[in-house]
Amino acid sequence: MLGVIGGSGLYKIEGLKLIDEVELNTPWGKPSDKYIITEYKGNKIIFLPRHGRGHLYPPHLINYRANIWGFRKLEVNKILSVSAVGGINENYKPGDFVISYQFLDFTKTRASTFFEGIYTKEDDYIKDDLVSQYLKDKRVVHIDVSDPFCPELRNSLENSLKKLGFSYHKNGVYVATEGPRLETAAEIKALKTIGADIVGMTLVPEIVLARELGMHFASVSVVTNLAAGIKGEKLTSEEVIEMMERKTEEIKKLILDFSEN
Ligand code: HPA
Repeated sequence: MLGVIGGSGLYKIEGLKLIDEVELNTPWGKPSDKYIITEYKGNKIIFLPRHGRGHLYPPHLINYRANIWGFRKLEVNKILSVSAVGGINENYKPGDFVISYQFLDFTKTRASTFFEGIYTKEDDYIKDDLVSQYLKDKRVVHIDVSDPFCPELRNSLENSLKKLGFSYHKNGVYVATEGPRLETAAEIKALKTIGADIVGMTLVPEIVLARELGMHFASVSVVTNLAAGIKGEKLTSEEVIEMMERKTEEIKKLILDFSEN
């Protein structure tokens, strides 16, 4: 089953049937919002607004563990993450879609594992049939993320983007920064030299946690602005919001097409 983490209005799509809204509590606390269960052509798609409806949670204070745990409880095994990013690669333009294939992690303060050694909430794992298999004697876990994104889901994303005729790049390196402030021009210049193509604040630890629970994960981002210092102008939240609004219909089409693969 597919789970989609993204903006708050994404599930309101013609042809997509609303089935239920589910409020969950998890050993890690409350997810950002209710999970919205929908159906499209016989397949269930479960949506979760990453920042909560009303944009309540800034990137560094999102309860990523609760969000991912909740999806797993609902038997989601594939996650599509939709996000806004700044463009660092000079070939990327505002409005382009980017499929990530690697990430760089520059976050600082976030809980980024379910496996906390002696502090692991073992009872909660054991009580949870779905995930107890991941614990067993493995309280300290170092997952392999050499290839963090699912190659099949990335291919499906590319097929959908191609079919829909949207402008996209497929091998993006996403650098995750801590935020909530935007980057300095010097930071972006440095991040570029180490290989970053796009910059955002939410991919990590979302992807890491999903991978810890054995889920497949793909990320599609919209370049909402050129990153700090590239254009020589100040960045505003308005340009990010405006671009995401402009791209909403395309994102919805992409999700539906992708869900059929
Ligand atoms: N930096 C970090 N996160 C972002 C940006 C940016 O320029 N644009 C959208 N999300």
